[in-house]
Amino acid sequence: MDKLVIEGGRALRGRVTTSGSKNAVLPILAASLMSEEPLVIRNAPRLSDVKTMLDVLGDLGSIVDRRDDGSISICSAQVPADKAEWENVRKMRGSIAVLGPLLGRTGRAVVSQPGGCVIGVRPIDLHLKGMQALGALVKIDHGYIVCEAPPGGLKGAEMYLGSSFGSSVLGTANVLMAACFAKGRTVIHGAACEPEVTDLADCLVSMGAKIRGQGSPRLEVEYVEALGGTTWSVIPDRIEAGTYLLAGVMSGGAVRVEKCRPDHLTVLLDRLGAAGVQFQVGPDWIASVARDVRDPARRPKPTDVTTLPYPGFPTDLQAQWMALMTLADGVSIITENIYPDRYMHMAELLRLGANIRRHATTAVVQGVEALSGAQVTASDLRASAALVMAGLVAKGTTEIHRVYHIDRGYERIDERLSALGAQVERVDAREEVLKE
Ligand code: EPU
Repeated sequence: MDKLVIEGGRALRGRVTTSGSKNAVLPILAASLMSEEPLVIRNAPRLSDVKTMLDVLGDLGSIVDRRDDGSISICSAQVPADKAEWENVRKMRGSIAVLGPLLGRTGRAVVSQPGGCVIGVRPIDLHLKGMQALGALVKIDHGYIVCEAPPGGLKGAEMYLGSSFGSSVLGTANVLMAACFAKGRTVIHGAACEPEVTDLADCLVSMGAKIRGQGSPRLEVEYVEALGGTTWSVIPDRIEAGTYLLAGVMSGGAVRVEKCRPDHLTVLLDRLGAAGVQFQVGPDWIASVARDVRDPARRPKPTDVTTLPYPGFPTDLQAQWMALMTLADGVSIITENIYPDRYMHMAELLRLGANIRRHATTAVVQGVEALSGAQVTASDLRASAALVMAGLVAKGTTEIHRVYHIDRGYERIDERLSALGAQVERVDAREEVLKE
């Protein structure tokens, strides 16, 4: 199992290009099950989560071709198998996105229940509520979700898909995909407005689907008999872009994040402005401005954030924001509304010298003057990113264990940070043990 060894204290400088969005490409890959014709994704990121989704699709009978130029072609010419097994689904909750496409195309979907994960319970009741609204019979059988279309097929319906935590990104994606093949008209109220859902809807339209209302909480879908293939470029990954920007800010360096969508990050830029942090924005780039991190007058101002559905502050940047606020000049309040328990990174930041307390869904971060390197353990993808950011500025050496989490969502992060001037080394910890 790899670990990252980081020597802190170097300001990052240079340019980094944003990859295709992980959370857009996963349901879009699943959408390939809805057509006999190939779907080509031009800019699929090279991530372990993408590989897991391709494995799930391969097991269902899709033919996958990863080309040298980085694009992926995926074709489900034959009717796919209807069962997504636990072995693959358990590796990644995003695999649940095959539920809607399978039900829509074959009239039956048997998908392993994804189970809980370290960031929280993560129920799927909204996915199932939507399928039931379309007329599907739904049951849980030995750990599998079994959805069956009624005789005559799925039927369009009007439904509300919100919950007390807001809307559901993958729940909306699943129901949207199934609804394309539901006779008549479907209206989803309380749909997730995240750009990744809009990208999926736009890709489906390019395959021949009839969808209106993208980006709004009201999605309208008209039945189509079949979908064709398409070639698609997914949107840039707003969370990756935000993470590199925050890493640049935290290190006091000048990092220009290119080929991103600043309009998908308005809340982050707003919070950076409130923190008194200087940055520049262009049509498709954002850049941190160099500052002397040793100058106490240049510390970020304490700035509160509350995670909310889009366009509110993304839960997927909460850990990274907390890392930045550990060095702010005062007390910041972070409130996690999407996943109330998504605070696994907190204990590890404490090991690096941060001062954070937690009360229920709120973390109180008292900024300190400096962090100091230590051995820490990554618990999940975004926690890993926060620890990397903290390690880049901590005095001395930080070793981040269980770093495989970060490869799920950040393409070659160690190489890219090294190219920005960081001193980061990936070490195979197993080999190290064998050598001892
Ligand atoms: N929820 C329900 N019932 C459901 C579904 C969700 O109550 O049936 C609740 C969840 O428990 C949570 C909230 O609704 O409190 C939002 O969950 P959502 O369904 O939107 O999450 P998701 O679709 O499973 C995606 C991303 C996550 C990201 C969330 C929120 C993918 C593959 N995953 O998950 O990304 O945090 O939306 O924006 O798209 C990550 O990239 O690190 C990551 C965890």
